[in-house]
Amino acid sequence: MSKPIILQVGPYPEWDQVPLDQNFDVKRLFEATDRDGFLAEIGSDVRAIATRGELGANRAMIEACPNLELISVYGVGYDAVDLKACGERGIKVTNTPDVLTQDVADLGVAMMLCQSRGIIGAESWVRDGSWVRDGLYPLKRRVFGRKAGVLGLGRIGFEVGKRLAGFAMDIAYSDIAVNDYAPDWTFIADPVALATHADFLFVTLAASAETRHIVGKEVLDALGPDGMVINISRAANIDEDALIAALSSGSLGAAALDVFEGEPALDPRFLELENVLLQPHHASGTIETRKAMGQLLRDNLTAHFAGRDLLTAVN
Ligand code: 8YV
Repeated sequence: MSKPIILQVGPYPEWDQVPLDQNFDVKRLFEATDRDGFLAEIGSDVRAIATRGELGANRAMIEACPNLELISVYGVGYDAVDLKACGERGIKVTNTPDVLTQDVADLGVAMMLCQSRGIIGAESWVRDGSWVRDGLYPLKRRVFGRKAGVLGLGRIGFEVGKRLAGFAMDIAYSDIAVNDYAPDWTFIADPVALATHADFLFVTLAASAETRHIVGKEVLDALGPDGMVINISRAANIDEDALIAALSSGSLGAAALDVFEGEPALDPRFLELENVLLQPHHASGTIETRKAMGQLLRDNLTAHFAGRDLLTAVN
């Protein structure tokens, strides 16, 4: 029996590529020099798209595949998939929730610690001889016992909060409603009020048109010169121009970012700033989690072509 034809949008690790190639007839869009020409040639054969969270599938790609049945996303975020275009044609979408939650929360908290305690600068202090020459490293701010705001108490936000509780932090969160699974934390619906409360603001919202630039000038001003914003969600949740302006003027103390508009290229102004920690969108980037994400991506594809229920359907 011939294998179902799937369109692969971006590369996966070898341990995922091998089983993917074994079970499907994989057309690699990312290897095509002329992407439009490639899509025009093979689009009508494609029954599923395998993509990544940040790459998604836009309307043009979906329309180039008239017999498309499923889009399987390697990542929890499906904001880059045009769900409206999918809905119009009954195309199913799956993602990889849960398996990455713990690692994403870990990196968010690590970024807070790294930035607050100046760990990157301290490393250079040792390596460049400053310690020998100048003595003690400049003092930094503590994390223990301070105030945290979690903007979006979904699976990842909740795990961030649990970790912060271990640092005896005063935790507040914003979400569409009070969550009964977080009785010890303060609910503050308004993001500006949440930022006013917080020293550290974690952005853990699933991105959508409604959350675009939810962290803008007002939120950043409320966070203030001693405040820090940590983004492990999507760049679009923050107004980058406002963020860069606030970091440059010092009206915001610091930022720690794993995601950027237009990544992997990023606004070059970020590179000039010393009060921002820059990470290459790798919050889910552990061997363990990425293996689990790849497995779930394939399990969804397999379930679909076997006529079984999808494991983690989005729509
Ligand atoms: C990426 C992510 O998918 O889960 C998400 O939504 O953005 C990430 O896990 C990952 O970087 C692989 O490309």
